[in-house]
Amino acid sequence: MARNVGGAQKRRKEEGADYKPSADPKDGKDTKDIKPKSDDAPVMTRKTKQVLLLAALCLAPYFYQLLTVELQEGVKRSIFINLLMSIGGYFLTVRLIPVASKYLLRKNMFGYDINKKGSEAGTLKVPESLGLVTGIVFLAVAIVFQPIFFTPDHAWLPEYNAGLMCICFMLFLGFVDDVLDLPWRVKLVLPSIAALPLLMVYAGHTTILIPKPMQGLVGTSLLELGWIYKLYMGLLVVFCTNSVNILAGVNGLEVGQTLVIACAVLSFNVMRMGKQYLYVETPEDILRQEAHCFSIFLMQPLVAACLGLLVYNWYPSSVFVGDTFTYFAGMALAVVGILGHFSETLLVFFLPQVINFLYSTPQLFKIVYCPRHRLPSFDPKTKLLTGSNDMNLVNLFLRTFGRCTEQTLCIRLLLFQALCCVICFVLHKLLEGWYK
Ligand code: UD1
Ligand code: MG
Repeated sequence: MARNVGGAQKRRKEEGADYKPSADPKDGKDTKDIKPKSDDAPVMTRKTKQVLLLAALCLAPYFYQLLTVELQEGVKRSIFINLLMSIGGYFLTVRLIPVASKYLLRKNMFGYDINKKGSEAGTLKVPESLGLVTGIVFLAVAIVFQPIFFTPDHAWLPEYNAGLMCICFMLFLGFVDDVLDLPWRVKLVLPSIAALPLLMVYAGHTTILIPKPMQGLVGTSLLELGWIYKLYMGLLVVFCTNSVNILAGVNGLEVGQTLVIACAVLSFNVMRMGKQYLYVETPEDILRQEAHCFSIFLMQPLVAACLGLLVYNWYPSSVFVGDTFTYFAGMALAVVGILGHFSETLLVFFLPQVINFLYSTPQLFKIVYCPRHRLPSFDPKTKLLTGSNDMNLVNLFLRTFGRCTEQTLCIRLLLFQALCCVICFVLHKLLEGWYK
């Protein structure tokens, strides 16, 4: 494969400094090294403790609800089996990433850590596109799990599989983007192509429930949108995928935001299923229950595979996730939002991404100059990042809350993401019965 002449590789060579394979990017005390076996093997550091702590914080509300909320026996059993398979997926991801990293490096799929430019760690070749492993493990778990869900019928299977096909298609197109380094206008179109399987198969409702305070104005409680609803689904997919991709460039941020949102989605599903448990009477109630189950069965493996990736992607990153991951993760979240019929809630979970997108629009639409990377500047002496004038949330946080290390910046941004999820749950509680 003559990829050395490809745009991405050419650019990396132009941007890059000398390769020093023996340099160690590790600066945490409790990280475990996997020593390189040969000169071309990457230096991999595992940040297991930090990641398990983050997992415990994010998953605690979900597990608490799972233990306290009353659910049907069959559903509980399915969730438990899915959880066990997901834990297997975590270990598989952790095991496969060092292997995949070696092969990706050999094919010149690497990047330089921009937020370490000027330091030794900034000269290392960091393997790129490791979202590939996460995506493959996620898909394998989600596919193998299908015959295990204990339901009386299999009506959910076509949509479940169409959803998986979209995620798989997006993973592939994300990897294509990493290899070919596509221009922005093409990047924007890719998710709408990947969404086609779901748009074609979707047989669910295309009506929306009008909020109670507005029903008088519209004159009805249910509004049939027809093809406009499908257009909305397509736009949601384009937004979710691209918005994760542009809130990026800080070690651990891409995977961290996906993790926080996925855990919030898990909590939301159990909350809704618990509430509806007593009212499952009509076929529509059963479908709604199944939609939430379906969402849990996709989110558990996603969380597990993300944790496996974060072990290597947390600061200081030994691997980059690539557009392969950002597109895949955005698509997985959009698919559960659409099929679970809670896209409005999902958009509130996505509040930091919405803010980042809106703030970025002058640069995205080229009204203001947009460089290839809109990242902060790094001071090798103090190891602190300073916000640039580029219009995104990463720089806004640095300008507002002051200079800080890359890890602190990532934690601050993830805390903001978690805060938005909490706000969403509070809004649900406050507006219950009044809004819808
Ligand atoms: C998007 C952003 C760009 C940002 C980039 C970072 C827009 C319009 N584009 O571009 O501003 O710089 O994501 O991913 O907002 N990298 C790091 N540290 C990390 C992760 C990535 O330095 O923690 C660098 C590496 O050099 C890596 C490269 O970013 O090779 C990957 O960039 P890519 O995903 O191709 O950028 P875009 O998605 O096009
Ligand atoms: Mg990207």
